[in-house]
Amino acid sequence: MSDKLFDLTGKVAALTGAGGVLISMMAKELAVRGCKIAVLDLMPAAAQKVADEIKAAGGEAIAVVCNALDKASNEAAAAAVIKQWGRVDILVNGAGGNKKEATTSPEMSFFDIPADALKFVMELNLMGSVLPSQVFGKIMAAQKSGTIINISSMNSFRPLTRIIGYSAAKAAINNFTQWLAVHLAQNYSPNIRVNAIAPGFFETAQNKFLLRDEKTGALTARGNQIIGHTPAGRFGVPEDLLGAFIWLCSPSASFVSGIVVPVDGGFSAFSGV
Ligand SMILES: NC(=O)c1ccc[n+]([C@@H]2O[C@H](COP(=O)([O-])OP(=O)(O)OC[C@H]3O[C@@H](n4cnc5c(N)ncnc54)[C@H](O)[C@@H]3O)[C@@H](O)[C@H]2O)c1
Repeated sequence: MSDKLFDLTGKVAALTGAGGVLISMMAKELAVRGCKIAVLDLMPAAAQKVADEIKAAGGEAIAVVCNALDKASNEAAAAAVIKQWGRVDILVNGAGGNKKEATTSPEMSFFDIPADALKFVMELNLMGSVLPSQVFGKIMAAQKSGTIINISSMNSFRPLTRIIGYSAAKAAINNFTQWLAVHLAQNYSPNIRVNAIAPGFFETAQNKFLLRDEKTGALTARGNQIIGHTPAGRFGVPEDLLGAFIWLCSPSASFVSGIVVPVDGGFSAFSGV
């Protein structure tokens, strides 16, 4: 096996939500491997911090404020990337997440969940990947090469209890991943690939309220249930995603398109018995 299989030197990568926990790790790993990184995030300070960290480590990066839910904002971000480096080889649709208000609980029944909260979660997770794919995918179509990585979730295969909107939206991401893989290859170039990663359970700010008691930090019943159903016996750490991520971005996956790769410590394989 040669290193060329995983060579990403000189590639230009744009990652939405790259100011956050998981996608910033991906951005940094691409930078270490010689990619030029556009750190796209709604939050200017978060994007700048990650870009600064990449540059301090000797990498090449720009911070670009971008609302993944706004086509014009995506277009402005893409223009900034093209102005800087002239092309885009990798798009990571990382902006996404759940919202407490769109989650059932003893205080919030399914019947009372506000439509606005559900719409927000559906919109962020589905349209937040579709719109950047339209904008950056168009550049890849003109280049006749590129790779898009969507970020799915465990709840996309079988819905998890409580998180109704997030489950529906991530299931839609799997379908969109397959659809776009076929569409771009058939209509523009077989050298454009689209895949997704479905992370298992990673402890981050947006799911902490489900996994740990706010006061004591002890695992909730749900947190314990998850660990009990994860053969690896632990939550994931962001670094766990990097192997599958780099593989999907790299030439070693040149015949891999339209798949959703679980990185979940075995969660999705385990029936519970
Ligand atoms: N944390 C987990 O356990 C887990 C599991 C499965 C999937 N995921 C998915 O992984 C992805 C990243 O999650 P994370 O845990 O790193 O989240 P995070 O909350 O740490 O980061 C999300 C980032 O997205 C940015 N963002 C929010 N709305 C945006 C918008 N409209 N446009 C651009 N940027 C926006 C936020 O500012 C933030 O920096 C999400 O799609 C999430 O659904 C996370």
